[in-house]
Amino acid sequence: MKKSHMEIEIKQQPQIISKIIDAYFFDNEKVIIDAPDDVDKIIMVASGSSYHCARCAAEIFGDVSNIEARAIYSSEFLLKKVIPNHALYIFISQSGETTDTLSALQKVKQLGMQTLCVTNVENSTMWKAADYRVNCLAGEEQSVASTKALTAQMLCLYLLAIKYAADKKSDISKQIKNLQVLPDVIQRSINLEGKIQTLAKFLYKYRDIVIAADGVSYALAKEACLKIKETSYINVMSHILGEFMHGHLAVLNNKKTILVYISSDELSYSAIKNLEKIKADYNPPICVIGTSTDRLNTSYNIDCNLDSDNYILKIFSNLVIIQILALKIAEKLGRDVDKPKGLRKIVTEN
Ligand code: F6R
Repeated sequence: MKKSHMEIEIKQQPQIISKIIDAYFFDNEKVIIDAPDDVDKIIMVASGSSYHCARCAAEIFGDVSNIEARAIYSSEFLLKKVIPNHALYIFISQSGETTDTLSALQKVKQLGMQTLCVTNVENSTMWKAADYRVNCLAGEEQSVASTKALTAQMLCLYLLAIKYAADKKSDISKQIKNLQVLPDVIQRSINLEGKIQTLAKFLYKYRDIVIAADGVSYALAKEACLKIKETSYINVMSHILGEFMHGHLAVLNNKKTILVYISSDELSYSAIKNLEKIKADYNPPICVIGTSTDRLNTSYNIDCNLDSDNYILKIFSNLVIIQILALKIAEKLGRDVDKPKGLRKIVTEN
């Protein structure tokens, strides 16, 4: 069977990750990237998968570089009456052409604030309009569902967070170790394909899939949801698990519903309690991605077996796992992942 662009692009990721690290991380010690110095607040604006990247990156800027950062959907940003001053605005876009993100960039420029774009298309309209530019270097992405470009965006923003941490003389030794092993982590996640396919065979029959997560992983739950919808057209919902307990869990009364929990950390006490309660009250099949656990009665558990406290490596690993999961569910349903119905690669006005 001919491989889809989506599959080919997922599998290119270890090489792309190495290429980005070689391009922006010099002599194994210094990030050199086109960005302003002395930033104490970051606002990231993006749509779709690029927004999910922004949400993960917001946590990473806070944790790694001690910079307050937030993510906002481009379309929502355009509705804002008050726009914070004295921030670096980062626009994330695979294509560099998405109308809402481009309009947001133009709005911020008119207000005279610093703009940086992270894009996979050099010389795109956003690239030309922004003050600072980071090329994701993922190579042309042909699959409508974004995979390699998203992982590349994540890495570029992680590198930027490392740059700001180093500028502040923070200890970046743990981040350097992460960069050294990242291509291998991505390859190991791809190597889980067989296990992920088994999970896909189990999931594709469900009428409703709830994908839940807490903290930084919530953006991954949203991404998994988007990727599965785009390629399989099935009804998948994403929820913050803690919030899911406030009424949303009534959907589990529908016995054709399954719960997938994504974690980029060890399972927290409250996640275990919530999942145990869900099991006791509704007894849905529960699958856990990203961490191994024997505390819960799970139907499936997929884990790349990374250091349990290294949530950044786990984010990258989980990103790849959910991309393969979406691909395998779509294949099981006989969908053409490269031609999803009614979708265009670039969302513009025309
Ligand atoms: C998801 C996907 C879309 C894009 C969104 C933003 O797989 O492809 O949701 O992420 O349309 O596109 P860019 O990043 O080009 O601005």
